Amino acid sequence: MVGQRYIAILIWGICLAFPTSDKQVHEPYTVQEVHTAPPTWRRIRRATRTEQITLNIGLKHGRASELERQLLEISNPSNPRYRQYFSLDDLHSLSKPPLGAVEQVLAWLSVHGIQQDNLQFSPARDWVTFNTSIQQAESLLGTEYSVYKNGNSLATRALQWSVPSNLQGVIDTIQPTTSFWHLKARDRQQINSTDDSNLNLHAIEAVGPNVGSMGIDMSHLPKDLTPREACNVTAVTPLCLRVLYGTLGYSVQTKEPKHMALVNFLEEFNNRSDLAQFAKTYRPDAIAAAEGFRDLSIAGGINQQSPANPDQLSERLGLEGNLDAEILIGIAHPIPLTAYTVGGPPPPSVSSSSFPENTNEPYLTWLNWLLAQPDSELPSVISSSYGEVEETVPLSYARRVCLAFAQLGLRGVSVITGSGDHGVGHPAHCEKDFLANFPDSCPWVTSVGATKGISPEVVATNPDNGFVSGGGFSRYFPRPFYQEGKNSIDRYLAEIGSLHEKRFDPSGRAFPDVAAQGYRYVTVWNGTTRLVDGTSASAPTFASIIALLNDALAAEGQPAMGFLNPWLYEEGWRAFTDVTEGSNEGCNTTGFPAIEGWDVASGWGTPSFPRLKELALRRRFRLQLPWYLRWKEWW
Ligand SMILES: *[C@@H]1O[C@H](CO)[C@@H](O)[C@H](O)[C@H]1NC(C)=O
Ligand SMILES: *[C@@H]1O[C@H](CO)[C@@H](O)[C@H](O)[C@H]1NC(C)=O
Ligand SMILES: *[C@@H]1O[C@H](CO)[C@@H](O)[C@H](O)[C@H]1NC(C)=O
Ligand SMILES: *[C@@H]1O[C@H](CO)[C@@H](O)[C@H](O)[C@H]1NC(C)=O
Ligand SMILES: *[C@@H]1O[C@H](CO)[C@@H](O)[C@H](O)[C@H]1NC(C)=O
Ligand SMILES: *[C@@H]1O[C@H](CO)[C@@H](O)[C@H](O)[C@H]1NC(C)=O
Repeated sequence: MVGQRYIAILIWGICLAFPTSDKQVHEPYTVQEVHTAPPTWRRIRRATRTEQITLNIGLKHGRASELERQLLEISNPSNPRYRQYFSLDDLHSLSKPPLGAVEQVLAWLSVHGIQQDNLQFSPARDWVTFNTSIQQAESLLGTEYSVYKNGNSLATRALQWSVPSNLQGVIDTIQPTTSFWHLKARDRQQINSTDDSNLNLHAIEAVGPNVGSMGIDMSHLPKDLTPREACNVTAVTPLCLRVLYGTLGYSVQTKEPKHMALVNFLEEFNNRSDLAQFAKTYRPDAIAAAEGFRDLSIAGGINQQSPANPDQLSERLGLEGNLDAEILIGIAHPIPLTAYTVGGPPPPSVSSSSFPENTNEPYLTWLNWLLAQPDSELPSVISSSYGEVEETVPLSYARRVCLAFAQLGLRGVSVITGSGDHGVGHPAHCEKDFLANFPDSCPWVTSVGATKGISPEVVATNPDNGFVSGGGFSRYFPRPFYQEGKNSIDRYLAEIGSLHEKRFDPSGRAFPDVAAQGYRYVTVWNGTTRLVDGTSASAPTFASIIALLNDALAAEGQPAMGFLNPWLYEEGWRAFTDVTEGSNEGCNTTGFPAIEGWDVASGWGTPSFPRLKELALRRRFRLQLPWYLRWKEWW
């Protein structure tokens, strides 16, 4: 049906910037993407035509492949341009759409009665956003919108979208159409279930206030504490992590260190009073930092400090946010913390036609906002503990979000994510094929799996709450060049032979890249001390170590680590303690086993800060070349 629709569209002469509006032809529509609703979402009815929707059109970058090539160069330690990052302006020139593309899209919108005054552009003009009705969106995209339900959440989505053939090469994605990602799958009746699918977090029990402090006087810490003395494996504290990963003896050296950041989605927040209570016991020198971290609200996100209401309490809102902030401050204080709190509550009841909540795409909203910030405002490292099953994310959308992570890498930001909490797949969601977690499956982030135990650390699982550290292979993103080395995937695949053959695609991007503790972390929430599991804990743990590493580099006048993986796979891996026990079971299988060397359960293993520092500082990086020399090869 869609293929038979025609609309009038302007044709463009040789000089694309000057439309000749009298030349009109009928361009046939071509379907751009078809995506089935994930099994947890059920179609309930056709969307009302008058309902409003905010559409986001992602225009192709003029130099999209160039963008990735540049990232590979500046993150590759053997390249002369290693760690020579792009400024905001550099990046805009690299990511703006090709000449004439914006005008082509404007002409198409104008034929559908969408005027230029109603459009908002991103700074690089690679995103166009506007409000419209379902009726108009349906005619624009040759599709039909329906209302879908998952638990108490409703979403208005389409299972496919089309554009005129002449725009095919111009548009990457249009959302919300096929994207069910980011939508909270929380069901209030089952808050104790293990299926908090967007949060890589599993809660366990409430415990006494000073648990895990091991009777150590926090004001006079001996520098030579051993993990055995500092760690209680059933209640992991910042002191334990600092001793285990070797940051305890390090003092932050720069006067104004670049900040570290976390991101809150899904109405999460970081409660200052809880954070201060946590600091009082576990990091007494950081009480002021816990009360005074900077929070930035994006798209209406609220870093709530007032008492939580009963609904919020029953959903444990703030637990994830508190955990992330407590770990970052607990390990990396006095590196300043910034919290990005991104709006985008669960879609409200669609029948209310309320606007624009049911159209939010928080990851993208946040990334577009962040990429528009001046260089001085960007953190050196970001921790994100939110992810989804890759297959629920439409390919075009996943690629655009992934490209935004690449852009952050180009600007020198390390993006750290938790690898998911269901091993190779939650048994309820996988029939045969293993599932990957997004954004971990994006090759431009560093994905962190979870371990437990001290000597040795093993792949973390907790049969009591169903938590299993996530890992696997992407079906969307091919194996990146840095994983091609004979040390990583190929060697691993040779070791495991035909194990789970055909359940995963061995040519995809594999994750996690590294691991860190993620079991029974002490967390203060709602005034009470609790223990929680999850790669939600591993991501900020690793991120705080990178924040300290960046400080050590800055003290030597060196740029931050930026996108880590090429360095990690080439030489950084030597700074990691291999994890060789356990496996990431899931999908009713034993999953991928940890073995000697890199593996799909624990990546390279867990970090040693002193060794990381030694390796990173050893590499003398070269003087920054002027931009015209840096860009010479691709002008
Ligand atoms: C869409 O409408 C909402 C609510 O009226 C408004 O906040 C938002 O800025 C609008 N977006 C655009 C792109 O015009
Ligand atoms: C989880 O919820 C179910 C149903 O509400 C309840 O029967 C069960 O006791 C709960 N389990 C825990 C550990 O709270
Ligand atoms: C270790 O943690 C457990 C709680 O999981 C607690 O009962 C125990 O007292 C702790 N041990 C020490 C020495 O703090
Ligand atoms: C957040 O902090 C306030 C005090 O500032 C407190 O009253 C409230 O209960 C806290 N909320 C949660 C969810 O902990
Ligand atoms: C949160 O704290 C309040 C006040 O201390 C308490 O009444 C409530 O039971 C707590 N709720 C949860 C879920 O811990
Ligand atoms: C899980 O695997 C076992 C053994 O292969 C099999 O008996 C069982 O039916 C499987 N369960 C599901 C839900 O597939």
